[in-house]
Amino acid sequence: NVQFTVENINSLEIMFFFLLMQICPLVNKAVEDLNTELKTLNVLAKVDKYAEIEYSMVSSPEVSKSSIDLSLKGEFYNIGKHQEPPFSPTAISLPPQTDKMLYIALSAFTPNSAGFVYNKAGVLSLYITDDMVPKASPFRLNTKTFGVFIPQIAKQFPGLMMKLLLKTEESPKVSFEPKNATLQTSATMTAYAIQPNGTLSPLFVLNVESSVTAHLFLSGMNIAGSLSLNKMKLTLGTSYVGQFQVGTLDTIFQMVLKMVVIPIVNAQLEKGYPLPALKKMQLINPQLQILKDYMLIGTDVQFIS
Ligand SMILES: *[C@@H]1O[C@H](CO)[C@@H](O)[C@H](O)[C@H]1NC(C)=O
Ligand SMILES: *[C@@H]1O[C@H](CO)[C@@H](O)[C@H](O)[C@H]1NC(C)=O
Repeated sequence: NVQFTVENINSLEIMFFFLLMQICPLVNKAVEDLNTELKTLNVLAKVDKYAEIEYSMVSSPEVSKSSIDLSLKGEFYNIGKHQEPPFSPTAISLPPQTDKMLYIALSAFTPNSAGFVYNKAGVLSLYITDDMVPKASPFRLNTKTFGVFIPQIAKQFPGLMMKLLLKTEESPKVSFEPKNATLQTSATMTAYAIQPNGTLSPLFVLNVESSVTAHLFLSGMNIAGSLSLNKMKLTLGTSYVGQFQVGTLDTIFQMVLKMVVIPIVNAQLEKGYPLPALKKMQLINPQLQILKDYMLIGTDVQFIS
């Protein structure tokens, strides 16, 4: 452990209210330099055509003996239309850390504000067609496959291809528990038969509650993720083909999620989301851990000129 005095502070510790960030010793940098450095903070980071992340400071930096704490916002917004979500951040506090130069704590509020923005933008929906199902799949999206489980479908709609619409009903919810980041979503899955003239005949609507585990990692100055299915629960919303046992569709919809939906979401999450960063800052040997209510990145930092 290293103790720093005010004289050799050389250190910047950024702590956020929603998102906490701590930077420790920066060789040959005085506190005054930090003000200059802080001006290079990416206050508004564009993510994609729907969202941006705001990293403005919510209070003045707190200078202690060993570090400087900054409280930053860490909130996703719809581009150009900043609307607050119906939930607020839980306060988080960092245990004293001294091993690394910089600590960034990101509370579950940040990914949850992303879920709110994307759900509100209406982009958390996906049409699934047979060409999206891998060739090697044991099932096809047609009335023959589904007719095995629901005989009425094969009878009323023989020889037709099908289409599914997966749509979130509310914002997905992320929770951070020690060593475990989980995303819960509540969605509907509507199944259609595609008539030869292209008309979609609805077959049924299912409610899909799913829990996925998120593996989070750093990709440069971005935080990225990859999901894997943990649990899925189906219940019947509406049937247009009479009664059937929803449970018989569990296996097929688990495969739809694993083989089609999750790979599409992962391709998106893999691109990552920008972390708060000072200009020309590079992370050296960053380590990421999931703790109660927040994710903590501890890293050394290098400034490249
Ligand atoms: C992670 O947390 C979720 C929800 O809190 C739980 O359902 C799941 O079993 C946990 N997974 C592990 C590996 O602990
Ligand atoms: C398309 O075909 C279906 C089934 O044969 C029929 O009910 C529907 O009226 C047709 N729609 C149009 C626009 O032709």
